[in-house]
Amino acid sequence: MATARLIFDPRLPIGAVNRRVFGSFVEHLGRSVYDGLYEPGHPAADERGFRGDVIELVEQLGVSAIRYPGGNFVSGFRWEDSVGPVAERPARLDLAWHSTESNEVGLHEFSSWLESVGSELMLAVNLGTRGTLEALDLLEYSNLAQGTALADRRAANGRREPFDVRMWCLGNEMDGPWQLGHRSADDYGKLAAQTARAMRAFDPTLELVVCGSSSRHMPTFGEWERVVLNHTYDDVDYISCHAYYEEKNGDLGSFLASAVDMDAFIESVVATIDHVKAVKGSDHVVNISFDEWNVWYNERFEKVDKLTGADNWPVAPRLLEDAYTVADAVVVGNLLISLLKRADRVKSASLAQLVNVIAPIMTEPGGIAWKQTTFFPFALTSALATGSTVTTRVECERYDTADYGSVPTLDAVTTVDEATGRTSIFVVNRSQSETATLELDLSCTAPVTDAVAQTLADTDVHAVNTLENPERVGMVVNDTLVLGDGVATIELPPVSWTVITLS
Ligand code: AHR
Repeated sequence: MATARLIFDPRLPIGAVNRRVFGSFVEHLGRSVYDGLYEPGHPAADERGFRGDVIELVEQLGVSAIRYPGGNFVSGFRWEDSVGPVAERPARLDLAWHSTESNEVGLHEFSSWLESVGSELMLAVNLGTRGTLEALDLLEYSNLAQGTALADRRAANGRREPFDVRMWCLGNEMDGPWQLGHRSADDYGKLAAQTARAMRAFDPTLELVVCGSSSRHMPTFGEWERVVLNHTYDDVDYISCHAYYEEKNGDLGSFLASAVDMDAFIESVVATIDHVKAVKGSDHVVNISFDEWNVWYNERFEKVDKLTGADNWPVAPRLLEDAYTVADAVVVGNLLISLLKRADRVKSASLAQLVNVIAPIMTEPGGIAWKQTTFFPFALTSALATGSTVTTRVECERYDTADYGSVPTLDAVTTVDEATGRTSIFVVNRSQSETATLELDLSCTAPVTDAVAQTLADTDVHAVNTLENPERVGMVVNDTLVLGDGVATIELPPVSWTVITLS
């Protein structure tokens, strides 16, 4: 492969990196909560029943805001069931995942867990089977200091101080026919606008996320965003995007280029937001909350794991427990590059999900917790992508894919943090056979005195970390990095994700 070249220019910033881009998502689904972050009998559990080993890993992962409690789950959820004395909480059917929800962990417990991991709560309201009034009740229960029945009930339930939730999702994937209470864009837009205005009558500073499309490949994509924003534009701050990718039919080349799809998704939604803004003559800027993204072997779920049967409603079944490969981690790292590239408009994002369910962290009941391959690019990007994204150009070879046509072999983004003096370059090599030699042009930046690189790659691109072998895959120092005068070079192995830090 010919030598590739990368140039970045700190004088051409794109946007400040918002910490909320390193958010995640905890849904009451499978073993995400029960036997995941919560397992009272576990040797590492604290007095609340939360596993200390999981808390430690979540801290290492570096997650900012965590979206809760769903997902599809939220569209059948009655929030009142999840507060008050645990012994009095009702068990309910969860129609979205064909399970039983015990409500043993609810708003108070989850919020106390969030305090342990140092993350912010991002709450979703049920606009599927419920409506504006229930959303208002939850808001008042959560955020009003005192003096009403709902605020006093929260205090009586053990929480005097309000939760003060800032970010609220107005439902979940309302464009999806699988969603309880699925609606047309017009119907949902009206309901979301009414709910947003009512919530803002309580507190105009709330940050509200209206549902966009659950994939760029939905038949209503584009028109859904236009119609929904037409109803809600001045009443919301974000529109959501959701995207999941998987290697299908052994087509690794297309899968490795999944970020091409995410780039196009973001560009189209930004264009639609700005179109509605122009038509309305509004000064208000709506941004993107990419509040579900990941690799998810959905085909496997549909064919193998999906639960059915009128008498079959298990508690915390093993669902969506994908074991992530090296290739999956490279794609996850690349999707983070896409989110960062549009730091000017992608202001919030949630890796879906966090523990056991399509997750970077896995647990065994009574046993260990371990890091999946996807843990590494997320943790390092969260730790090192600080400051602002700056203009970055890569010249490299291309390859053909069945899904996206001709795509670049390399993809990269650069962040520059003036406060720490650190520049971080995140780069993937999508080639399945060739090591790429990348030359970094440092002529636009201050003299670099120190450079280090770490790479995720493996001779077996389908290698995974498992209960039996939890440390099979990890990061290694890339010692091919050579720093010269105004230039650096590095070798990037096939199917790899690398972070280079310069100071
Ligand atoms: O994250 C799993 C599911 O994917 C969520 O519940 C839903 O919102 C999406 O379809």
